[in-house]
Amino acid sequence: MSKVYEKLLQCCCSVEEKIHFKPEIALILGSGLGDYADDIQVEAALDYQDIEGFPVSTVQGHRGRFIFGYIGSTPVVIMQGRVHYYEGYPMSDVVLPVRLMGMLGAKILFLTNAAGGIQEGMHAGDLMLITDQISDFVPSPLIGPNPDELGDRFPDMSHIYRKELQDVVRRAASRLDIPLKEGVYIQLTGPNYESPAEIRMCRAIGADAVGMSTACEAITANHMGMSVCGISCISNLAAGISPRPLTHAEVQESADRVAPLFRQLVTESILEMAGEQL
Ligand code: HPA
Repeated sequence: MSKVYEKLLQCCCSVEEKIHFKPEIALILGSGLGDYADDIQVEAALDYQDIEGFPVSTVQGHRGRFIFGYIGSTPVVIMQGRVHYYEGYPMSDVVLPVRLMGMLGAKILFLTNAAGGIQEGMHAGDLMLITDQISDFVPSPLIGPNPDELGDRFPDMSHIYRKELQDVVRRAASRLDIPLKEGVYIQLTGPNYESPAEIRMCRAIGADAVGMSTACEAITANHMGMSVCGISCISNLAAGISPRPLTHAEVQESADRVAPLFRQLVTESILEMAGEQL
């Protein structure tokens, strides 16, 4: 058994000792959505630090706990605070929570994040459905001995973001009258924001939004057969497109400003996903 899988089993046992709950959908909350769980019917919460072997996040504004509850009648597990590669964890730890939620039973992974807008015509406050991604600037989370229990050594990544789930989000946005951009997300390591030249490169290779998370999580979920969907909150225009220097405070502020719409869209989408035959 690989070390990665061994550690995962340890975390899984530690959770199952404390909580008896089988989620169908896993949701990772990005900046601005941190208090989303206030809206839902909560059954239990578990701090990351109480899970044996679990990597604990250190970033301000990223609270670290799982929340188990219901959106409508669908059992969900919500990650309030994710683990970032730039915090210094090995990639296998960064994606451990995704694998854990999959092992607890989640069949769908719903990813959210704050991102810098690159696509022509984007504005701070836009929401973007992620249709594909570029992850080549961070190490693959699948490097190392393959945990065969989870998936193949060389998994296909032709459809990382499940088409049926993209359609669910599009329909939800349309019902709610929320304008929705679409595009390709690129993950860079951070923690520094990009230089204008790096953003020109990102645009040239086909990226529409840039951030420091998500793509590695999507690969991991796809590897283990979960269906993935993702939405970015465009919290700022990327470096060089924005006339101002970027600050974490600005990113947080605009993410907070759009949060009410973002929450509505996530809830409406999840309500419909529950009935989706995947
Ligand atoms: N770059 C990288 N990550 C980000 C940004 C950005 O401009 N905004 C929010 N997360």
